[in-house]
Amino acid sequence: MTREITTHSAEETIAFGRTLAELLSPPKLVLLRGDLGAGKTTLVKGIAAGFEAAEEEDVTSPTFTLVHEYRGPRANVYHIDLYRVDTLRELETLGLDDLRAEGGILLIEWGEKFPRLLSERDVEISLERDGESGRRIRITS
Ligand SMILES: Nc1ncnc2c1ncn2[C@@H]1O[C@H](COP(=O)(O)OP(=O)(O)O)[C@@H](O)[C@H]1O
Ligand SMILES: [Mg+2]
Repeated sequence: MTREITTHSAEETIAFGRTLAELLSPPKLVLLRGDLGAGKTTLVKGIAAGFEAAEEEDVTSPTFTLVHEYRGPRANVYHIDLYRVDTLRELETLGLDDLRAEGGILLIEWGEKFPRLLSERDVEISLERDGESGRRIRITS
């Protein structure tokens, strides 16, 4: 299945993320693909809010901490940024398999760096800039 929409503001991307929460039944490994500034973290704000796991404004980039956990009534949402993770060994210390096995929703930025995650992903969401504030969002599952 592929779905595609274009949003025209960060707010619109967040609103779209909220609707995605209804479609993502746990457990899920979701790869978020797109350049820096494409809107991956912005989309996570909406998804985490849709799961009632976090307030939008409390979702920030897990650039240095690598994993942010948001506990919700339906699932725990994990926002993961692998931009600074370079080895399989480092990846394994994050215990992503366990988080998924426990029924988590894993939203992973830069996961495509690792072939294993590419082959294990349930859903892929790619975001592409279209001008200053346009973002083409494509979902493949
Ligand atoms: N349509 C849009 N959707 C998402 N973000 C947008 C949009 N238009 C502008 N932006 C801005 O682009 C930036 C996206 O940043 P971020 O979500 O952190 O990207 P990434 O996590 O992909 O690096 C934010 O500053 C956001 O306000
Ligand atoms: Mg980000």
